[in-house]
Amino acid sequence: MDNKSVILPVWLDRIIFDDFEAIYEPRPMEVVYNPDQPYEFIKLYLGTYFPRSFAEAYGIITSLMTNDKYKQSLYNLQEINVLDFCCGTGGEIIGLLVALSENLPNLKRVNINAYDANPDAIRFLYHLTDSIEKVPEFRLEIHINPQCIYIESEQEIQDIINMSNMQYHYIMSFKAINEFVQRGTFNDGNPYELIVSYFSPLLNTNGVFIISDVTTKVDSGTLFYPQMMNSGINGFLKGSQQYKSIVPNVCYHFENQCSGCYMQDIFHLSHRKINNDRSKIAYRIICYKSFAHEVMAGYTPKTCRAINSLADKNTPYDLWH
Ligand SMILES: C[S@@+](CC[C@H](N)C(=O)[O-])C[C@H]1O[C@@H](n2cnc3c(N)ncnc32)[C@H](O)[C@@H]1O
Repeated sequence: MDNKSVILPVWLDRIIFDDFEAIYEPRPMEVVYNPDQPYEFIKLYLGTYFPRSFAEAYGIITSLMTNDKYKQSLYNLQEINVLDFCCGTGGEIIGLLVALSENLPNLKRVNINAYDANPDAIRFLYHLTDSIEKVPEFRLEIHINPQCIYIESEQEIQDIINMSNMQYHYIMSFKAINEFVQRGTFNDGNPYELIVSYFSPLLNTNGVFIISDVTTKVDSGTLFYPQMMNSGINGFLKGSQQYKSIVPNVCYHFENQCSGCYMQDIFHLSHRKINNDRSKIAYRIICYKSFAHEVMAGYTPKTCRAINSLADKNTPYDLWH
């Protein structure tokens, strides 16, 4: 298994397809908006989209761990805190846990606060983590607190912040912010900008915020989600001056000149129902500026569309080394 071509661990394949009777059946039109999907659809989500989110998070974290300075900053920790905003069935949480257990031998316990509007997805996630803890190959203690909350306005985000009593090593949002764009939840505001500005202050000094989303078009216009994500995150970074991007690493060097480019990364995933399923996403990882400087010391600026309009859309993700 490398970080762009992932095989679902056998024990996880067994839990989701045998114990939870997950169904593999891509339904791109129906998965567009998810808060009120019924129970039967969650089984389909678990068999089709959960493994993709697993592969994406596993790949992203495994790649991040190839940066020695980043890995060293976590190496002696016995406990790590995670917040997942719009976790659904939590594929990214399990991908993160597997990547952490492979890279951090001293880690014993992971505390997770996970939020989502869909009660069935939340329920699945709770039982899933319970099953995973019983797997002999899985060595981490998981303390998860999945909470059902429908975000209707900034007020509910503020409520989550107020409820939170810890600083996080990982804050994640996978393939969900586009649903706030579709709904117009925050009126004319850019939801990416708004969500990173609310949650970033909850980061630990060496914490990272992974913002990942689909790469399709916003409605039927000309704008794509990655462009909206980039302009929202760059707007936040410019305004705050306290945070910086570390992934894609070109963004660390050029985020001030970027006008919101389109980018995408492709992950391949295999499990008992499919070989080489493809998942396309765009993501940024941000953290406190001082930590970004520490982690990025020694990485030289590479080409990106801010300085070379012909740079390929996949390029930003291939430049970590
Ligand atoms: C496509 S799913 C992604 C789930 C998970 N992060 C993953 O990658 O598998 C999007 C999730 O966002 C949640 N969501 C969308 N709008 C929401 C809202 N207004 N409040 C809370 N959750 C919401 C949905 O319930 C759904 O579980």
